Amino acid sequence: MPPEPIDEVRGWLAEAPHVAVLTGAGMSAESGIATFRDALTGLWARFDPQQLASPEGFAADPALVWDWYASRRAGVIAAEPNAGHRALADFERRHPGRLHVITQNVDDLHQRAGSEKVIRLHGDILEDRWFDACHRHARGANVCDPGWAEPGSPPACAECGNRVRPGVVWFGEALPVAALEAAEQLARRCAVMLVVGTSGAVHPAAGLAYTARRAGAKVVIVNPQPSELDALALRRLQGTAATLLRRLLAGEPPGPVSATG
Ligand code: APR
Repeated sequence: MPPEPIDEVRGWLAEAPHVAVLTGAGMSAESGIATFRDALTGLWARFDPQQLASPEGFAADPALVWDWYASRRAGVIAAEPNAGHRALADFERRHPGRLHVITQNVDDLHQRAGSEKVIRLHGDILEDRWFDACHRHARGANVCDPGWAEPGSPPACAECGNRVRPGVVWFGEALPVAALEAAEQLARRCAVMLVVGTSGAVHPAAGLAYTARRAGAKVVIVNPQPSELDALALRRLQGTAATLLRRLLAGEPPGPVSATG
């Protein structure tokens, strides 16, 4: 009798010297944070996230973009890590150095659950940055000092008018080089890559699953819906991050899980 798919994947994880976990917005869905491609609701229903999450969108309407991020920040602060975040952190604690998270998410739920080995590909929604490089600053510094920001929507530099923006990677912007290089290295080195809660629609993040597969890793998708990475996965476990990661990593008794691949 062949093992249940979830049992089989648990066996792979138990033997893997290195596990990489690529997470997307679905990882935080059970914490109440909307995924990126869910239709925007409420005030934001009439906007396209790709329009808002871009330098052009911010330049066109700084207040609208700033207020959208302010409402998302409030949602992140109010959210709690779910059982999936905790299962990853617990595994990392029990097996130091064997599991690394590579996340596309800009929330801090992996970190608040206790994960320490987390690579942030798309930045941190709770951080601020200046929108422009400051070339006109009277004091000779080439960037504005956060202390010079006047409150507003968005805050602006009291001396040169530079605006504050969220510390996230927007559409059309490059990912942080060091983070991407570290993620590529993990994708090449891991024996198993869990791809959790991502549509696989955005590169270069989604490309890490291809890198892992080409390097010989077993790629396993955890998602209730089909994704653009399904074709390269060795196994696809249909279900949610909170439910399946708990069973895969914390030794929860397996239950029937449909799988393909
Ligand atoms: N558990 C696991 N997966 C889930 C859950 C859940 N509870 N709920 C939804 N999903 C899956 C959806 O089926 C979908 O495949 O999460 C995925 C979310 O996809 P997207 O909304 O496209 O989010 P993501 O893949 O993270 O987007 C990647 O695109 O817009 C940019 O920068 C943004 O980081 C984001 C990137």
